[in-house]
Amino acid sequence: MLSWDEYDDSEYQEPARKAQAANPEAVTELAEAAPAIIRAREYAPIQTPPLPDVLEEIRVSEPAPGVEQNPAEAQAAIAEFDTRITDKSIDRVTVDQKAMINCRADLNQLVPFKYDWAWQKYLDGCANHWMPQEINMTADIALWRGEGGLTEDERTIVKRSLGFFSTADSLVANNLVLAIYRLITNPECRQYLLRQAFEEAIHTHAYQYCIESLGMDEGEIFNMYREVPSVARKASWAIQYIKEICDPMFNTGTHASDQALLKNLIAFYCVLEGIFFYCGFTQILSMGRRNKMTGTSEQFQYILRDESMHVNFGIDVINQIKLENPSLWDDDMQILARQMILEGTQLEIEYAKDTMPRGVLGMNANMMAEYLQFIANRRLAQIGLAEQYPGAKNPFPWMSEIMDLKKEKNFFETRVTEYQTGGALSWD
Ligand SMILES: [Fe+2]
Ligand SMILES: [Fe+2]
Repeated sequence: MLSWDEYDDSEYQEPARKAQAANPEAVTELAEAAPAIIRAREYAPIQTPPLPDVLEEIRVSEPAPGVEQNPAEAQAAIAEFDTRITDKSIDRVTVDQKAMINCRADLNQLVPFKYDWAWQKYLDGCANHWMPQEINMTADIALWRGEGGLTEDERTIVKRSLGFFSTADSLVANNLVLAIYRLITNPECRQYLLRQAFEEAIHTHAYQYCIESLGMDEGEIFNMYREVPSVARKASWAIQYIKEICDPMFNTGTHASDQALLKNLIAFYCVLEGIFFYCGFTQILSMGRRNKMTGTSEQFQYILRDESMHVNFGIDVINQIKLENPSLWDDDMQILARQMILEGTQLEIEYAKDTMPRGVLGMNANMMAEYLQFIANRRLAQIGLAEQYPGAKNPFPWMSEIMDLKKEKNFFETRVTEYQTGGALSWD
């Protein structure tokens, strides 16, 4: 790396001396730019052209004659500028002014926090950061491309899972960015939504990374959400709740429009992320537990950890909206919310039957149905509704252990330590 000592007595001075002799005035004017040029050379010593060339470029970029009046025009414009944008009459934001929806307080001020849980989830999400290409896929590639490494039923499960998830996370991300972010009027929740949106991008990246590594037919996989009925029915079910609130003209503020947002939140957090992900996750993680497709399974483990937090955040948002707007949670809305969760459960059971026509990986469609009913009971209870599947038990307790870091620290220990940037992880 170039130092100032080298600059003083090296050949780097020679071109400057020649330039000084040829055009003393120009070089004197540009003398102040030299430290910046040298710094640029330190960072990019190969790409940066020799010193006299850089000086020439700077000289060329100076304003042409006849445009001197521009600074005066700019100065006149900014003299009036701030009064057009900021409203100095409004008071500083207080916690009492903040609200989950339809808030009129300044949304550019993150603090003071009203919802500490949202900020904590943002911090926890950042502490769990990971990237797909850090996971070794070598064993998966050998197994997938080798003869007889996986049964046909196991191959179907891998393809269906990547088929559903590769587009589902894009659906979630688009719904977040194009609708929910605009309509949730709280800065600390928006901060988490930004984090979640990036995590959804990482998840889509992870699925694409698996699809590419395994050499799958990308057209076949990415079109499953339109072409394979058990996948398409789940995607279509979610899309019906996007349409209304993704309209740029849509706004909350009426009973009906506030309920439309609530329906979307229940569809995406309680059903799509809270139920539709669970059959595929369980199947792939079960494969990993049997030492098959371990790289893909590891990707899914990190995604599941993120998704658990997305669901918890969404349920907190739903319950906070209910708390602040009790009239929205009327009988009709409760009946509809229950119906949505039951429909979602049924669609996921159909997906389980389609992807497991017979027993595979120590599980079958009936066991998965009970697991999904167990999950559905939990989602209903989380938003204050009665359980609908009495006595449903969890046939896969290891799934809960994977999701609960406190019980299964070894599972993520290395990664958690590696990425921990401050603050303890909380999965509650
Ligand atoms: Fe995701
Ligand atoms: Fe998610």
